[in-house]
Amino acid sequence: MAQFSILTASCRRVKKRFVLWPLICCIFVYIYIEITFPVRYIFKHSNVSSTCVIPKPDPFDPSILKFVWEPKPLVCDNTPAIVYTDINSVVQFDHKAIKKLNLDKNEITCSYRVVVRIKDDVSVELTQAVEFTPSFQVEADFYRVTCRKNNKDVIFDKLLTGISKQSTKRRVPVQEESLDHPSVFMFGLDSVSRSAAIRKLPKTLRYVTETLGSFDFKGYMKVGENTLPNLLPILTGRRAWTNEFNNTNYSKYPYDDFPFIWKDFENNGYATIYAEDMPKFSTFNYVSRGFVDPPSNHYLRPFWLGIEHLQNVPSELGQVLLYLENKNLNMHTSTMCYKNTPRHKIHIDYLKQYMSAYAKQRKFMFSFMSELCHEYPNFLSYGDEDFLDLFTWLKDNGHLDNAVLILFSDHGSRIDDIRNTYIGRIEVRMPVIHIVIPQKLKEKFPDLVKNLKVNTERLTVPFDLHQTLVDILNNNYKNPGKFYVDGKLRGISLFQQVPAERSCSDAWIPENYCACYTSTPVNVSSNGISKILSEQLVKDINRIVSSNTECAKLSLYKIRDIRFFSDGLEHQRTENTGISIFQFFSPEVTSEHRYDVTIETVPGNGIFEASYSVKGNRDVKLMGDIVRANKYRGQSDCIKDKLLQPLCYCA
Ligand SMILES: *[C@@H]1O[C@H](CO)[C@@H](O)[C@H](O)[C@H]1NC(C)=O
Ligand SMILES: *[C@@H]1O[C@H](CO)[C@@H](O)[C@H](O)[C@H]1NC(C)=O
Ligand SMILES: *[C@@H]1O[C@H](CO)[C@@H](O)[C@H](O)[C@H]1NC(C)=O
Repeated sequence: MAQFSILTASCRRVKKRFVLWPLICCIFVYIYIEITFPVRYIFKHSNVSSTCVIPKPDPFDPSILKFVWEPKPLVCDNTPAIVYTDINSVVQFDHKAIKKLNLDKNEITCSYRVVVRIKDDVSVELTQAVEFTPSFQVEADFYRVTCRKNNKDVIFDKLLTGISKQSTKRRVPVQEESLDHPSVFMFGLDSVSRSAAIRKLPKTLRYVTETLGSFDFKGYMKVGENTLPNLLPILTGRRAWTNEFNNTNYSKYPYDDFPFIWKDFENNGYATIYAEDMPKFSTFNYVSRGFVDPPSNHYLRPFWLGIEHLQNVPSELGQVLLYLENKNLNMHTSTMCYKNTPRHKIHIDYLKQYMSAYAKQRKFMFSFMSELCHEYPNFLSYGDEDFLDLFTWLKDNGHLDNAVLILFSDHGSRIDDIRNTYIGRIEVRMPVIHIVIPQKLKEKFPDLVKNLKVNTERLTVPFDLHQTLVDILNNNYKNPGKFYVDGKLRGISLFQQVPAERSCSDAWIPENYCACYTSTPVNVSSNGISKILSEQLVKDINRIVSSNTECAKLSLYKIRDIRFFSDGLEHQRTENTGISIFQFFSPEVTSEHRYDVTIETVPGNGIFEASYSVKGNRDVKLMGDIVRANKYRGQSDCIKDKLLQPLCYCA
C-alpha cells in the first residue's frame, strides 16, 4: 500500500512536469516556425521591352542544391490485390495474388458499382452493385470493385479505372490517325522548371532527348503566376481574368463555354481526354466552378472524387501527412499511394488504357499531374522511372508513329525558400518543355526541324504553344501561323522562327514574370572591369596557342566592345503573412555577372569574342569558347590544327 502511494505521488510529480514541458515545447516550436517562416520577395523586371537574352541558370548551383535531396522509396500497402484492370480495360483476377493469399478462385465473388458524376465537378455517387466474374469489361471508366470470400469477408475493395468507348458521349465519330492528323499527347507536370527536370527526371529526359529526339526549349517563359494563367494561354490563346473571355468570375460561372482547343480536336474526329489529379487543387476547380458537363470524352476527375468520397478522410489530413513525409518521417504507407498503388501510377495506367483503346485513332490527351511536385519538389523523383516507362511504352507500341508528344510544365517551383534565391527566381519563371514530333514529319518537312531547333534558343511562351497546336490541328506545316487578339500579335507557331530580337513585352510576358537578361554596353574607357576582362581574354588566347611554338604571342591592341548582362529583376516589396524575421532581410542578389568581351590583338589584327562570368571583380571565368570574329585566312597556314587555326598568328 505504502509502495503504491509513493508510486502515485511520484507519478503525479512526473505528470505535472510532463504536462508543462510539452506545452512549453509546443510554444517554442510554434514561435520558431512563425519567425523563420519564409517571406516572399516580389521582383519586377525593369525593362520588358529590351531584346531578351535567355538566362542560363546552372541546374546544379550550390544555392539550389541545398534544397535538393532524394526521398526514400515510396512504400504502399503491400497487401496483394487480387483484382486489377489490364491495359485493355478488362477486369482480371491476379492469380499470383490469389495464390499468395491461399484463396480459391471458386470461393471468390465480385461485384462492381459504377462511379457516376452528378451534374457537376463536385459530387459523385455509386450505382447499385452488379455481380460479375473476371475476366469482364465494365462499361464505365470508373467503378468500385468489391470481392468477398464465400460471400462473407471482404477480401478486395478498390476503385478501378478503364476506358469505356461505349459509354462515352461524343459529338462526332473518332477517325483514323495519320501523319496529316496526328495524335497530340500533352503530358504536363505542375511546378517543374527546366532545371528541376534536369535534376529530378534524368532518366526520362535522357530518353526524350536522345531516343525520341525532342526539342528542348531553353527560353520558354511563363506568362502568369500559377497554373491557370499559364495553362489557359496554351489551351485557348487568351489571358486569364481578362475580358478576352466572356466570363471573368471563375468562382461564379463554370468554364464550359471557354474556347478550349480540345473542342476543336474533338470536332475533327479526335478522342479527347483530360486527366488531372488532386481534385481540390486542380486547375479549373481551385477557387473555381470547374465544368458542368465533362470537358472531354474521358475525364479523370470523378475517379479521384470517388476515392475521397469512399475514404472519408479529409484531404487536410493528407496534406499534414504529406508534410511529415517531406520531413522524411517514415510512414507506414505513403499518402501518395492509393492502397497498393502509387497514385501517379494509377494516372499513368489510365492514360495507357486510353492509348490502347484508341490505338491508331486520333487522340488528344491533356494530362496534368500535380501531386508529385506541387508542394514538395523532391517527390518528383518518384515519377522518373514511371514517366520513362510510359514514354518507352508509347514508342515501343507505335503510339508515337503519328503523334506529337509534349512534355511541359506551367512554371517552376514556387516554394518560397527556393524562389527567394537568385537562381530560383529565374527557375520559377522558366518551365520545362520538350516537343517530340513524328520521324516521318521531320523527313517530310526539313524546315520544320530547322525552325524548331532555332526556337529552342529563343524566347517562347505558352501562346506560341497554342498556335503550334492550331497548326497541328490544321495540318499546317508549310506556312505555320501567327494569331492576333484584338488586332495585336499574340502568339507565333513554334514551327516558324520566332524573332531573335523578341522582348518580354513582344511575347506578352508581364514584368513580374520576365526573366530575360538585358545587355548594356560598358564604358570601356572608365570602367576598371574592362581592363581586367580584356587582359584576361588575351591571356586565355595565349594560353591556348602556346601549345604550338609556331604561333606568335598576342597582345592587346584595342578593346572593341564590352557588354554587361543583368537579369533586370528589381526587388519591389516583401510579402509577409506573419511575424517572420526574414521581413527585415534583403533578398539574395547575385554576386556573379556576365560580360561579353570583344577585343582586337596584334600582330595580325585578329578580333576575338568571348563570354566571362565574374564573381566579385576577381574570380573571372571563361564561359564557352573563344570565337574569331574576322577573317584569318593566310595567317595560320603554319599549323594544321583546325581548332587552333582561328586563334593562331604564325610568327
Ligand atoms: C463570347 O460570347 C460571344 C457571343 O456569344 C461569342 O461569339 C464569343 O465566341 C465568346 N467569346 C469567348 C472567348 O468565349
Ligand atoms: C464572383 O462571384 C462570387 C460568387 O457569386 C462573388 O462572391 C464575388 O464577389 C464575385 N467576384 C467578383 C470580382 O465579381
Ligand atoms: C566614358 O567615361 C569617360 C571617362 O570617365 C567619360 O569622359 C565619357 O563621357 C564616358 N562615355 C560615356 C558614353 O558615358
